[in-house]
Amino acid sequence: MNVAPEPIRWRGGTLELLDQTQLPHVVCYERIASADAVHAAIRQLKVRGAPAIGIAAAYGVVIEMAKLRTTSRTEFMTRLADICAHIAAARPTAVNLAWAVSRVRRAAEQSNAATVADLIAAITHEAEAIHAEDRAICRAIGAAGRPLITPDCGVLTHCNAGALAVSELGTATAPLYLAHGDGVPFRVYADETRPLLQGARLTAWELGSAGIDVTLICDNAAPRLMAEGLIDLVIVGTDRVAANGDVVNKIGTSGVAIVAHHFGIPFYVACPSSTFDPNTPSGAEVVIEERDGAEVTHFAAAHVAAEGIKVRNPAFDVTPHALVSGFITDVGLITPPYDLARAFHSRS
Ligand code: MRU
Repeated sequence: MNVAPEPIRWRGGTLELLDQTQLPHVVCYERIASADAVHAAIRQLKVRGAPAIGIAAAYGVVIEMAKLRTTSRTEFMTRLADICAHIAAARPTAVNLAWAVSRVRRAAEQSNAATVADLIAAITHEAEAIHAEDRAICRAIGAAGRPLITPDCGVLTHCNAGALAVSELGTATAPLYLAHGDGVPFRVYADETRPLLQGARLTAWELGSAGIDVTLICDNAAPRLMAEGLIDLVIVGTDRVAANGDVVNKIGTSGVAIVAHHFGIPFYVACPSSTFDPNTPSGAEVVIEERDGAEVTHFAAAHVAAEGIKVRNPAFDVTPHALVSGFITDVGLITPPYDLARAFHSRS
């Protein structure tokens, strides 16, 4: 069912990442052989999307630790802490990144492995488990959201919470892939998602390749299509859900939610339990990544803004929980009044 190329390949201890900056025109993989390389790939958005950066980070830790030449458990643990901190710092907003590396670190700490080789085996097993679980989680999210996709409905999505952002099926797109597989006719509208065009380059491409009826629109066209009655529901992904249900996702998401609310259109957020962050009370406490202004002053390779212009480039925004109609998760559809504890509980 998943027709998009795998964003992350792990074969016999070798990590390859699909370079998503080159999509949709060039499909190529980059061999990643160090913690620095995985940090750079995450930072540069070669691998992107909250769950995918967590998986890539977990493998990045394994690759670097496998190079260590020591028989000392203490030395192993010290180095492991450093590598985990380094990779986790690549991007601040998606909780899955810190969550995945701390899972790998905990696997070593809790292991009673007798040798460093056994410790390497323990962290490899944990990284592979995170990857494998993600596949099952996407299917569960798809099953939870599948009833929302009714014949002839129009669905708007923002950014890419698709197969390219996870291991397969995506989060926001999982119900769409399942409904399509069931032969349900429906339309998807993909916001282009300025400045880096994940909607245009990734979402429209992967859904179109799967044979789903997808239409690309400018970000600022969404209110118009809602006014025309073409949108029945919105489904987006998220990088972090705060304890109060505030949703942090790609810049522009909160605008979509506000407009959807205005038109009385349900706004759903699809995510794995690992994206819930019980330690952050609300969206106001989340660090919003601020990226290079050149992403705004340039369109593709062309410089489109005046030389020296001041730029702000926040990569994410916060959608207040009051605007969220429901969370489509691997533990089911969670609707208000939110029982987020149910999702937090299953978070390992
Ligand atoms: O900057 P990106 O491309 O990593 O942003 C990705 C998003 O905002 C996604 O919607 C989010 O990570 C959910 S992916 C299942």
